[in-house]
Amino acid sequence: KPKACIFDLDGVIVDTAVYHYKAWRRLANQLGFDFTETQNEELKGISRIESLKIILNWGGVSKSDAEMQELATLKNEWYVEMITKMTPREILPGAKEFLELVKANHYLTALGSASKNSETILRQVGITHLFDALVDGNKVSKSKPDPEVFLVGAQELNVPPNQCVVFEDAIAGIQAAKSGGMKAVGIGKAEVLKGADLVVAGLLEMTLAKLENL
Ligand code: BG6
Ligand code: MG
Repeated sequence: KPKACIFDLDGVIVDTAVYHYKAWRRLANQLGFDFTETQNEELKGISRIESLKIILNWGGVSKSDAEMQELATLKNEWYVEMITKMTPREILPGAKEFLELVKANHYLTALGSASKNSETILRQVGITHLFDALVDGNKVSKSKPDPEVFLVGAQELNVPPNQCVVFEDAIAGIQAAKSGGMKAVGIGKAEVLKGADLVVAGLLEMTLAKLENL
């Protein structure tokens, strides 16, 4: 039986993908090109700088390392402007209730996110207190599909990886969980989230029984 739940943030607990998309698109437009919502899917779970490299490649634009740092900072300023206006109503359906349910049933909880803005988002939506450990892009250096972010989470909770269940909306995140020796619950579509032990449309569909049966 699992002992801990590790949650991705963007796309699992809150829908910040739309804000990332708006900010990246504004940057791309400023550089003279555009990209679609379908292309945006490929950026899920990917770190800020890696995302920028992919986007510049779509636009056929090349920049020096220093210029890339500046562009990533500019995008983040626009993104932070949006997330600092977030409210608890932006928590995805069932997410807060599921966190409360697992905590009430003595599971340990951790955040495992690539974002360097996770503390701001959790504070804005008022759920920081529901996590026993917070691991994000400020604490780890290897991007998903590397399992580092989840392994550090397990370590901070003092739970062996095979007793951890990861909740992820990105394929890179499912791969990270599996290569870390953990169970993976995909949030989204089964066709996309191949390799997950279970796929649900959202945390609203998760139950204690489904968690215990993993
Ligand atoms: C992930 C998102 O959670 O965090 C990515 O899915 C994002 O889209 C990444 O690029 C890094 O986020 P941030 O907030 O540090 O730019
Ligand atoms: Mg995500």
